[in-house]
Amino acid sequence: MTSLVYTFTSLILIMFVSSFRVIADTGGAGLQDNYYKSSCPPAEAVVKRVAVANFTDPSDPRGLRFAAGLLRLSFHDCHVDGCDASVLLDGPNAEKTAEVNTFLTGFEIIDKAKAELESVCPGVVSCADIIAYAARDAVIALNGTSFNVQGGRKDGIVSLASRAQAQLPSPDMTVTELTANFARKGLSMDQMVILSGSHTSAASHCPSIVRRLYNFNGTGQTDPSMPSALADRLKALCPKNTFNDTVIIPLDSLSFSFDTGYYRTLQIHEGVFTSDQSLYDDQRTQPLVNLLTNNALFQAQFGQAMRAMGRVGVKLTGEIRRDCRKVN
Ligand code: HEM
Repeated sequence: MTSLVYTFTSLILIMFVSSFRVIADTGGAGLQDNYYKSSCPPAEAVVKRVAVANFTDPSDPRGLRFAAGLLRLSFHDCHVDGCDASVLLDGPNAEKTAEVNTFLTGFEIIDKAKAELESVCPGVVSCADIIAYAARDAVIALNGTSFNVQGGRKDGIVSLASRAQAQLPSPDMTVTELTANFARKGLSMDQMVILSGSHTSAASHCPSIVRRLYNFNGTGQTDPSMPSALADRLKALCPKNTFNDTVIIPLDSLSFSFDTGYYRTLQIHEGVFTSDQSLYDDQRTQPLVNLLTNNALFQAQFGQAMRAMGRVGVKLTGEIRRDCRKVN
């Protein structure tokens, strides 16, 4: 009986969700599942082993924070001129030097995976694919549900901080601005809401929230829509005019695990960024936020949305870097 009720509820949810413009997985843009099946059979397993070893390294207390870092890295790769590992390139004006990328982590993990793969299958597995596989492994490590990742991306040769700064969304954006930003990448408003669910295992540093706390929209005031208890708590952590890059503020006030806590955080008005809280406060996106508090639905939709994000601007011709930090 319980399972019947569950099946019925799931069915209703699926029918309801399909009335949104939630993604169908519309093919590969030239990418494929199991892409390295013949050319480098251990590719996905090597990435996973290297990533998990870093998440669980007893000598490094950052542990699962690296998982969150890798997930963010995949977004910051794909959202700037496509998923082409341009975020990994070193250089004085490279993407990773952009202000918006200040707190990106995970580069060394990708380097390690690449080094192992170059020793078993030289010149075969692209850095862009390694980022995509590692992001999936991060979700699993954080207790999320696995999804298949397509492969076949080539690595880009251009990386410019100005392009990262121009293309990545800011935490001060509203739903209208976020929707336009994601639309430029071919991603829908619903996909934007679903992908924001990755903030369930995310944390922020003070520089990302001080504008909302002390100079909302240039007013010199706190965002009036922020509950005063939340504002007081965040101000105590991030005092005015004090640069602090060590304090870590969870974006999901309920748990670090990869679950629906982020959406429930928004329902109780505890969203830390404008870009998060406005997903609940805006009538266009609130119904989907409410739906995504269903964990089975969230996990399934998240995997689909990650596959869609993984197809943004991919290059099917080009090089496979030998060293992810340098063009060949
Ligand atoms: C919707 C627009 C988005 C905005 C405005 C945004 C903005 C941010 C900001 C400002 C931070 C904190 C940076 C810091 O101070 O350390 C952050 C963290 C994070 N974001 Fe987003 N993000 C967005 C979407 C996404 C997407 C689509 C993903 C992944 C698919 C993602 C994954 C993450 C993760 C995992 C973290 C935590 C990283 C860590 O703890 O090291 N974000 N995001």
